[in-house]
Amino acid sequence: GFLAGLFSNASAAQTMPESAGLEVAVYFATQSGTAERLAKKFSKELKDAGHTATVASLSDVHPAQLAQQAHAVFFVSTYGDGEPPDHAKNFREALMLDSAPALGSLRYAVFALGDRNYEQFCAFGTELDERLIALGAQRIVSRVESDVDVDEPFAAWTPTCMIALKRSSDKAPAEARTVAISSSSKSAPLYSRENPYHAQIVERRALTASASGKLTMHLALQLGEALSYEAGDACGVVACNDPSLVDETLSLLAISADELVDVPKAGKSTVRDALLHHYQHTRLTRKIVQAFAERTECKVLSALLPAEQSAHLDAFLYGRGLIDLLQEYPGAIDTAETLFAMLPRLSPRLYSISSSPAKHGSELHCTIGVVKYRSHHRERGGVASTMLAERIGAKESVPVYIQPNKKFRLPADSNAPIIMIGPGTGIAPFRSFLHEREALGHKGRNWLFFGERSAQTDFLYCHELRSMSESSHLTRLDTAFSRDQEHKIYVQDRMLEQGETFWRWLQEDARVYVCGDASRMAQDVDAALHALIEKHGAMSADAAREYVSRMHDDNRYHRDVY
Ligand code: 2AM
Repeated sequence: GFLAGLFSNASAAQTMPESAGLEVAVYFATQSGTAERLAKKFSKELKDAGHTATVASLSDVHPAQLAQQAHAVFFVSTYGDGEPPDHAKNFREALMLDSAPALGSLRYAVFALGDRNYEQFCAFGTELDERLIALGAQRIVSRVESDVDVDEPFAAWTPTCMIALKRSSDKAPAEARTVAISSSSKSAPLYSRENPYHAQIVERRALTASASGKLTMHLALQLGEALSYEAGDACGVVACNDPSLVDETLSLLAISADELVDVPKAGKSTVRDALLHHYQHTRLTRKIVQAFAERTECKVLSALLPAEQSAHLDAFLYGRGLIDLLQEYPGAIDTAETLFAMLPRLSPRLYSISSSPAKHGSELHCTIGVVKYRSHHRERGGVASTMLAERIGAKESVPVYIQPNKKFRLPADSNAPIIMIGPGTGIAPFRSFLHEREALGHKGRNWLFFGERSAQTDFLYCHELRSMSESSHLTRLDTAFSRDQEHKIYVQDRMLEQGETFWRWLQEDARVYVCGDASRMAQDVDAALHALIEKHGAMSADAAREYVSRMHDDNRYHRDVY
């Protein structure tokens, strides 16, 4: 029967030479028959392309079988209030159980069907997609969410999916597949920038008051058992560009949005998906200006390129993106190849984690400075920070992975004093450290220097810090609110004011940590550290430099600056 077929197919797939066709399981969950019709049509396409395909209803499938499968494509409908079709309810329930199997060997694609008149449009397809990722399966192509009219999206998606299937099997070494298959359901799947975990948002709120000139956000994500981290680690957010900016960009390009392009390491993608997920175009680079200069023969642009014009070039790049050049020179870019050759890849954004595993369990918190500005007649924003603040719904999930930071750890000695200097979002890892030490009952003294613009509007985590200060867990809290008085006061000024005590802590084996702005703050803080050592340690400038360099070598001076 069907089951036996599935298992034997899977083992055949592992030993098959790469040139042979694939064994693909096509599953459907249907109420009125549309998803089934598409599944059968897709299976025929697979067979025409030389692959072997089996079509099955999800009513006949148990998640354990998916663990044996190398390739699967799902066509699933959603009904009413986000429900799967009746016959797929048992499958859904089994898949959502904590005991559901690890699916590290499965490569899959989801075609979701729904009806835009319902709020829970394509909910089952979305849920299935996210759950498969959470169980370690690898998505080979973005999910389609099709409205009642399915044929057009089907026709557009099918070739992309076929290519993605082929490529995913090329990329999969046989032994990797075997290892994944033989691993038990307990083993944690490996998430990475290529295969992020979709973490549910638990909480999202502003840490700054609305009267502040900036927005800093607290974001809490639920990791479940999928990911774990240590205090000091960073969270990688796999960001995507603003779809409305991408659509506007597409409207200015003489290229079809659906044309397929080869994205190195990511496989085939449509031009639209490449602009959404794979390339950075919100900021200009020299390479982009150069490409436009060549194609338009515009003298204004080519005049910016000689080395001695670099200050003019920088001024031109500042506050502009690809869209500005496209508006100025419509039609200049007419092939996908030219377009993607000039754009840098979109990289994930790293945020220092601000929660503590000991205190917050499976939650992960980030402290996000939301980048928004207006320039050259356009509202603009940071790719990841505006995605997290504005484009993702409060109940949605965020694709993340953990970026370990082994050089930024609490001291192994729980009694060692620590001094933390973290103005602005640089507070993040120190909130983590403080909670971690408190939850673990570490007795070492803690000293925090925090700086922001104004105490009234920008005192991030004010209540937590004050209460740790009152309980004496935070031995010292020194703040520098730069704009609350006539002249600027910064964290390094507070360090110098407290130089004598700072020096005493250093004598008592305190570790120093700095997090935040690399361009100015970290350098100024470094200079202040040298100055106070020189003064209070009664040393020459050279001896102070020597002292700091020894602190580096002895792992007593850690910096996480960006
Ligand atoms: P400012 O914006 O008022 O100049 C967090 O961004 C805090 O860091 C703000 O109070 C900001 O002050 C301050 N800051 C700016 N430049 C700095 C520097 N070179 N060293 C330390 N803090 C700085």
